[in-house]
Amino acid sequence: MIQRPRGTRDLLPPDTRLWQAVEGVARDVFGSFGGEEIRTPVFEPTELFVRSVGDSSDIVNKEMYTFPDRKGRSLSLRPEMTAGVARAWIENHLGDQSQPLRLYYIGPMFRYERMQHGRYRQFSQIGLEIIGADTPIADAELLASMHEFFLRLGFTDLEIHLNNLGDPEDRARYQAAIREALEPRRAELCSDCQRRLDENPLRILDCKVPACQVIAAGAPAMDELAGEASRRHVAEVEAQLQLLAIPYVRNRRLVRGLDYYLRTVFEVVSPQLGTNTVLCGGGRYDRLIADLGGPAVPGVGFAIGEDRLVEVLPARFRDAVLARSAVYVVPIGDAARARVLELARGWLRSGVPVELEITGRSLKSALKRADREGFRAVAMLGEDEMRGGTVTVRDLAGGSQSAIATADVPAWWRALPPAGERAGRAES
Ligand code: HAM
Repeated sequence: MIQRPRGTRDLLPPDTRLWQAVEGVARDVFGSFGGEEIRTPVFEPTELFVRSVGDSSDIVNKEMYTFPDRKGRSLSLRPEMTAGVARAWIENHLGDQSQPLRLYYIGPMFRYERMQHGRYRQFSQIGLEIIGADTPIADAELLASMHEFFLRLGFTDLEIHLNNLGDPEDRARYQAAIREALEPRRAELCSDCQRRLDENPLRILDCKVPACQVIAAGAPAMDELAGEASRRHVAEVEAQLQLLAIPYVRNRRLVRGLDYYLRTVFEVVSPQLGTNTVLCGGGRYDRLIADLGGPAVPGVGFAIGEDRLVEVLPARFRDAVLARSAVYVVPIGDAARARVLELARGWLRSGVPVELEITGRSLKSALKRADREGFRAVAMLGEDEMRGGTVTVRDLAGGSQSAIATADVPAWWRALPPAGERAGRAES
């Protein structure tokens, strides 16, 4: 049997409903303050990621799906979206439009990761980029809309970790300070970190190997070496977050695994995720567009891992989405079967979500199924009903049953309280 490639997933119903619902909230929240959707190709020239994410990053070094096309050009499946958005901004002259642009996206990314729970080789990100504003309030607005998104899904236990990465001018000083602090312990570092010590010592702070983490704790914090401008910038972002009562923690070790960041960087962590606890990562990238050959235009953004997000969705949101809020329409006898599709299509057109019994089940077995599947209500059509132009409707949450005119089904449906509410009232 042919199987899907390792690290990929089949998203199946009813889970796909959760994905759709989450994406609906994202479109709603990120579209509500001037955001527009952007869609870029799933593969790009490899050089794009080498020049943006960085050739010393794990993503570019070890995790890219890179292949030559038939003409020998090197292409890569996108491991992230910010580089593609920046390329599209330059290539399509989006600078001709009034700035800033708030661009959100939802789509698959690809990284050849070591197999682990919460790490996939194809995964989906929901992201937002604000391009063309270098003010701290842009960072704060971005974080506020991210926070709003999580709130709308019902999250209460997420932690925002925030750090200042300084400006690229500070970076050389900082790299030198880390190198100096860690060089004496070179032999104790993992082989990757020994290489990082020469190439990009900052990355050691991000290493997942426990021994390296202990050693990295002895390195100086970036914030202490950052220049005045970046410190002021991040302090203003923090002041805004405090004004908005958005909780966050300063995490002086947070460096992120991509090269384009400067100043504000952040991650959102869920205590419910096991080993891979990071649900969202982002930060400011004011040099990226210029580094890719465009004008000096600043940007700030984040991306949420949708697979991980769906895994830890709060139960309330999950249950509401998964509740089968439809009427199960059951015809009994030939006369009813002959007319049921026509009636059901009419109800559907009037806004009643109906699902038709089409396998020829008996009433008894249909009622069992209705219970098992959690339908909101059942509409039964037998010979008597057909003669009288009525239908017998049963509210499965409340238990009441009555015969109503077929034309009254939409009004009856609209008057039905949501299943959760009814249960709540019964308890009190
Ligand atoms: P990132 O931290 O590499 O940032 O990825 C963002 C999120 O994508 C992660 O926090 C995680 O939830 C999810 N993710 C990453 N790799 C995997 C994987 N293999 N399996 C499942 N989920 C994964 C970026 O990609 C940046 N482009 C974010 C950004 C946007 N910065 C500025 N704008």
